[in-house]
Amino acid sequence: MRRILRRTGGIESRPREAVVVAFASGKGGTGKSFLATNAAIGLHELGRRVVVVDCDFGLANAHLLFGVNPRHTLLHLLDGAVSAAEALLPTPYGPTLLAGGSGVASLAELGARHMQALAGALHWLAGCHDYVLLDCAAGLAPQSMITVLAAQHVVVVTNPEIAALTDAYALIKCLARQPARPSVELVVNRVTSAGLGKATFDRMADVSRRFAGCDIHYLGEVPEDPAVNHRRLGQPPLLSSLPRCPTSQAILSILHNVEGRVRERDGHGTGRLAARPGVEARMMAQIRRW
Ligand SMILES: Nc1ncnc2c1ncn2[C@@H]1O[C@H](COP(=O)(O)OP(=O)(O)OP(=O)(O)O)[C@@H](O)[C@H]1O
Ligand SMILES: [Mg+2]
Repeated sequence: MRRILRRTGGIESRPREAVVVAFASGKGGTGKSFLATNAAIGLHELGRRVVVVDCDFGLANAHLLFGVNPRHTLLHLLDGAVSAAEALLPTPYGPTLLAGGSGVASLAELGARHMQALAGALHWLAGCHDYVLLDCAAGLAPQSMITVLAAQHVVVVTNPEIAALTDAYALIKCLARQPARPSVELVVNRVTSAGLGKATFDRMADVSRRFAGCDIHYLGEVPEDPAVNHRRLGQPPLLSSLPRCPTSQAILSILHNVEGRVRERDGHGTGRLAARPGVEARMMAQIRRW
C-alpha cells in the first residue's frame, strides 16, 4: 500500500524539503541583502520557518542587517571547522541566519570541496525549514552560479537603470542555458515612480523571451526609500520597525507573489516537489559540470 501511495504521489518519497529561493543579480549593490533579510522577516511573520544563508562569501553583510554578531560563519563551515547546526544563529526578528564570512579575497579561492560542504549544509538546513533564502554574490562567477542554481526560484534583483538591467539580462541568459532551469523571477528595486517596475519588467521579459528563450515572472517593484539606508546605522530592519510603510508593503506584496509562484511551480502541499531532485543533488550536478 505504501508503495502504491508513493507511486501515485499520495505520500512523499523523501521528506519534504524547504523551498530554496536565491536573491541574485548581475550588477552588485542592487538590494539583494536588503530584500533577502526583510523577505525572511516577512515570511517568518506568515508563520514560515526561514533561514537566510549569506552566500556573499567574501563580503558578507546580512548579519549587520540583522544586527547580530556571528561567532561562526559559512567560511568555518566550508573549511569543515563547524557543522551547519553549530554555525546557525538566531536573530531577534525570527529568521535564523547562517552568516557569511569575510577574509576570502575572492570567490576563486573556493574549490569543489568547499562547494560540496555548502551543498551538504543546505541539505541539512532545507530539512528543518520551510524556506531557505540565499543572499548570493553578484555576478556570474562559477561559485556564485553554483549557489544560485541550488535554488528552485531565482529572484533577480535589478534597479531600473541601464547598467543594472544589462547585467540582469546577462544573468538571465546564463540561467536560460541551464539544463534544469530554475524559475526566474524579477524584482525591480529602487523605483522612483510607481509603475516603473512593471514597465521595466515588460521590456526585460520581451527581450528574455525573444533572445534567450526564457520566460521570466514579475514579483513586483520596491520604491527608492531614504529610510532603507538609515537601517544600516544599526536600526532594526525596515519590515520589523515600519511594517506599514509603502516599502514594507511592497516587500509583503512580493512575498505574496513568491508564495503564489511556489504553489504554481512546485505544487507545495500536493507532494509533487518531493519527486524532484533536492538541493544537494541540484548543487552536486552543478559542481560536477564545473
Ligand atoms: N529600496 C531602496 N531604497 C533606498 N536604498 C536602497 C534600497 N534598496 C537597497 N538600498 C541601498 O542600496 C545599497 C545596496 O543594498 P544591498 O547591500 O542590499 O545590495 P546587494 O545587492 O546585497 O549588494 P552586493 O552586491 O554588494 O551584495 C545599500 O546601501 C542599501 O541600503
Ligand atoms: Mg549583498
